[in-house]
Amino acid sequence: MLIKKLSQETINLISAGEVIEGPSDILKELLENSVDAKATEITVEIKSSGLDLIKIKDDGTGILKEDLEVCLEKYTTSKLEKIDDLYTIDSFGFRGEALSTIAAVSKFKIVSSTTNDGKGYVLENNNISQVSSNKGTTITVQDLFYNVPVRKKFLKSKSFEYSKVYEVFLANALLNPNITFKFISEKKNVIFPKTDFENRLVQIYGVEIKTKTINLDINTELFKVKGILTNPQNPVYFPSNFLFINKRFVFSPQIYKAIIDSYKDYLMIQQKPFFILFIELDPRTIDVNVHPKKRVVKLQNEMLFLLEFKRELSKKLDASLGKFAPALEHNSLKDFISSKNSDYSSFQKPTQSSYSSNNYSSNKEVPFFRSDLQKPLYENNNISSISDNLTLFEHNITKILGQIKNTFIICETDKGMILIDQHAADERINLEKNRLKYADYVEKQNLISEISLDFISESHKEILANNIEIFKKTGFEYYLKNDIYFLKTIPLFLNKYFDKNLFLNLLKDIEEGNNEVFKLKDSLLKLRSCKESIKANDYLSSHEQIEIIKKLNLCKDKGICAHGRPTIIFLSLKDLEILFKRIV
Ligand SMILES: Nc1ncnc2c1ncn2[C@@H]1O[C@H](COP(=O)(O)OP(=O)(O)OP(=O)(O)O)[C@@H](O)[C@H]1O
Ligand SMILES: [Mg+2]
Repeated sequence: MLIKKLSQETINLISAGEVIEGPSDILKELLENSVDAKATEITVEIKSSGLDLIKIKDDGTGILKEDLEVCLEKYTTSKLEKIDDLYTIDSFGFRGEALSTIAAVSKFKIVSSTTNDGKGYVLENNNISQVSSNKGTTITVQDLFYNVPVRKKFLKSKSFEYSKVYEVFLANALLNPNITFKFISEKKNVIFPKTDFENRLVQIYGVEIKTKTINLDINTELFKVKGILTNPQNPVYFPSNFLFINKRFVFSPQIYKAIIDSYKDYLMIQQKPFFILFIELDPRTIDVNVHPKKRVVKLQNEMLFLLEFKRELSKKLDASLGKFAPALEHNSLKDFISSKNSDYSSFQKPTQSSYSSNNYSSNKEVPFFRSDLQKPLYENNNISSISDNLTLFEHNITKILGQIKNTFIICETDKGMILIDQHAADERINLEKNRLKYADYVEKQNLISEISLDFISESHKEILANNIEIFKKTGFEYYLKNDIYFLKTIPLFLNKYFDKNLFLNLLKDIEEGNNEVFKLKDSLLKLRSCKESIKANDYLSSHEQIEIIKKLNLCKDKGICAHGRPTIIFLSLKDLEILFKRIV
C-alpha cells in the first residue's frame, strides 16, 4: 500500500505553514488574541526580528486551567459555535487554530491567570503547573521553526522580517487606540499610551501627520470609509499603508490600485499616496474566511464598491485642491475616447475609416462648429502663422483654437480635431531632451547640509545597503551612522528639483517592484522632466502653443508622456458624427 495516513504531528506541521510563514504572522495572531481578551495594556518583546523570541503580555481575561488543557488542540475556540456566527462575529479569532499551529513550530509557553489573587498556571511541554501570575496572559514563543528547518529557508532577511513585525504591531496600535501598546526590541523601544485615534496618529507619526494628510469620511448606502490619505498639496512619505475592512488588517491589490489611480493627476511621478483607511461593509456581504491568515476578505459587491469608492475619493481630492472636476461625464464619450486611445499606434496613421475631408465638404449646410469659434482665439494664431505645415503625427493642423481651462490645447485639423494635454506633451518633450543631454552624465552635487533619512523602513535600509555602487553611479552618496542613513550628495541634474520625499518615494517604488535600481537614472530624468514642465492651469500664449506642437512632433514617442498617459486625443469628423449620432 502506497497511501498512508499522516500522523497528527505531521498534519499540524503542514497546516502551520499556511498560517505561519514568519514571525509577523505569529505576532498578528497573538495580538489579536490579546485584543479579543479585552486587554487594556499589551507589551510586545522581540529578539532577532522575532526569530529567537516573541513575548506578548496582556492584562485581559486570562485562560482557565481547564481551557489551557485544550487550547493547543486544533479547532478549539471560545469564540465561535456555529458557522452562521461568522457573519456577525466581532472577535478577530474564530478558527481555534492559531495557538496550536504556533506551538507546532516553536518552543511555546503560556502563563495565564483569570483572577486577581496572584495565582495562575503555566503550560509548557504539555505540562500544566501552578505559578504566581497577575491577571492576564503571557505567551512566549522561542526558536521559531527549530523543528522545520526548511521553513527557515523561506524567511526573508532579518531586517525585512523586522519591518513586517513592526508593521503588524502598528496596525494593531492604529486599530485599538484605547489600548496601551509597548514594543521592546534591540532596535526600537516605543510606548503608545491609551488615547483616541487622532492622538494615536500623532504618537506614531508625529504632529506633521495632521498637515500632510486629508481626512476621508465617506458614507454611502453600501459602505462607510473613514481615515486619512496623502494631502496632494503637501505629500508625505511613510513606509507602510494600512487598510482595514471591518476592523481586519487586510491586503487588497484592487483597492490599492483604485487609490493609486485616483491620485494619478495629483501627485508627481514617483510619489505614492500614503493612507490609513477603515472600510466598513455589511458583514453579511463579505467573507472573512477565504485566506489562511485572514489577510484577504472577499467582497460580494466588489465592482460596485470600487466604482463608488473611486468616485468619492476623486471628489474629495478635487475639493482639496479646489480643482475643476474632470469634464468627461458622458459615459458613451468616455468609453469611446478610452477605447480609441488604447492603441497609440493608431495616431501615427489615420485609419482608412477616418472621414475624408472631401466627403465632408459636400455636406456644408450643417456646420460642425459655431462660426465665432472658427475664428482663432488668440492673436497671430491664424492659419497663416501656422501655414508652414504644422503637423502632429500625420495630421495637418489648420487652426489652433486655444486652451481649455488653461490645460488642454484644442486644434482643428483637416480631418477632425486634436486635443493636447499641455503638461503631458511638455513632459514628453523635456524627457527626450534630458535623455539626450544627460546621456553620459554622472556629475554629483554635495548637499550643503546632509539629509538624515530617519523614519525609513528596514527594507528600504536594505535597498540602500545592497546598492551603494549603483546609487553612487547615479550621483547619490550616503553613509550609515547609528542605524540612520545620511545622504551626502545628489545627481547635479536634479539640483533644485530634489527634495527628501522624492528620494523616499524612489525607495518605495524600488521596494514595490515598480522601479528597478538599474533604471534609477531614467526614473530621475522622468521626474525632473515632470517637475520642469508646463502644468495644467498654466496660461500659454499662442506662440507657446505652437512651439509645444512643433516640439512634440519631433519626439520619438510623442503619443505618451513620461508616466505612459496619452499626450493627444484625435477625433476624426466621422468620430464626431458618431458621437452626435449623425451616423451609426
Ligand atoms: N491572550 C489570551 N487571553 C485570553 N484567552 C486567550 C488568549 N489567547 C488565546 N486565548 C484562548 O485560546 C483560544 C484559542 O486561541 P486561538 O488563537 O488558537 O484560536 P481563536 O482565537 O479562537 O481562533 P483563530 O485560530 O481564528 O485565531 C481562544 O479561543 C481563547 O479562548
Ligand atoms: Mg486567535
